[in-house]
Amino acid sequence: MPESAGDECKNLQDQLELGQFIPFIYHHNMLADPVRMGAFRSAIQSAVPQGSRVLDLGGGTGVLSFFAAQQAERVWCVERNPELVEAARHLLAMNPGAERIEVIHADAFDYLPPEPVDVVICEMLHVGMLREKQVPVLVSFKRRYLEKFGAPLPRFIPEAFIQALQPVCQSFDFDGYHAPIPSLQDPSVKHVRTSELGEPVVFQTSCYDAHLPLLCAWKGELTLDSDGQLNALRFITKNLLAVIVEEQRSIDWFSQYLIVPLARPLHLAAGDRITVDFSYRMGDPISALKPCVKRIG
Ligand SMILES: C[S@@+](CC[C@H](N)C(=O)[O-])C[C@H]1O[C@@H](n2cnc3c(N)ncnc32)[C@H](O)[C@@H]1O
Repeated sequence: MPESAGDECKNLQDQLELGQFIPFIYHHNMLADPVRMGAFRSAIQSAVPQGSRVLDLGGGTGVLSFFAAQQAERVWCVERNPELVEAARHLLAMNPGAERIEVIHADAFDYLPPEPVDVVICEMLHVGMLREKQVPVLVSFKRRYLEKFGAPLPRFIPEAFIQALQPVCQSFDFDGYHAPIPSLQDPSVKHVRTSELGEPVVFQTSCYDAHLPLLCAWKGELTLDSDGQLNALRFITKNLLAVIVEEQRSIDWFSQYLIVPLARPLHLAAGDRITVDFSYRMGDPISALKPCVKRIG
């Protein structure tokens, strides 16, 4: 069915501002986040060979292309937002290695480099693989790359992701105003509004060089470790940026945690079991994640 003009306008607005495009002002926060920057810098240092060719999809300000260009011979930095394309060109020119980087104004859903590449960097990441188009972009990229150049595929940064959920009791009280709404949490700090009622349970593990699912669907069971009011689930996405097999370790980066309030809170005791059921498409808005939680027995 054709969408109404109102729906079309809303979709465009969502794509431009809240969806896959991050407003320019937020790029400062990404650049100033030492955990994110340190993890990507180390992963790129470890996974990008000297003299290699690299494709950076969703280049933003160009910082990951800059890291790559310290080792690579050639980097294609692809960005769709014209404001960021201009910013990346301007900023990269102030930094060493710029002569090895080409900033391309294109949609990562269409673009392919002129020649095969050794490494693809793609940081269009969001908790739950929601909002940003990381997975659909890389599914499309892999298909088109194999059609044009054949195997092997390049190495991917990140290489894999692991998703988990955790039962929590969340305070939704804001100065007496009860507002059970979703929120994001910095994974590196303790959150006083959140009491953990059980351990995280893994619901999905995917490698970018293997089959990538476009759907995230899970139906499973959890057991509570503590008594409490279960009124939210915390979603956790761990990105394995680089797996260093010879050292038996990986360089990981957690997306911000997502707290999703439940439609109906449950008063539960330690040992109680629940079922959790949800399904959404990768890249969907956060509102598509509507877990259905039921007490067993
Ligand atoms: C999370 S930001 C990361 C930026 C940069 N790679 C970094 O790590 O600082 C994701 C970037 O992908 C860009 N982007 C989103 N969808 C895109 C698409 N379809 N094609 C190209 N760029 C896209 C956004 O505009 C944004 O700059």
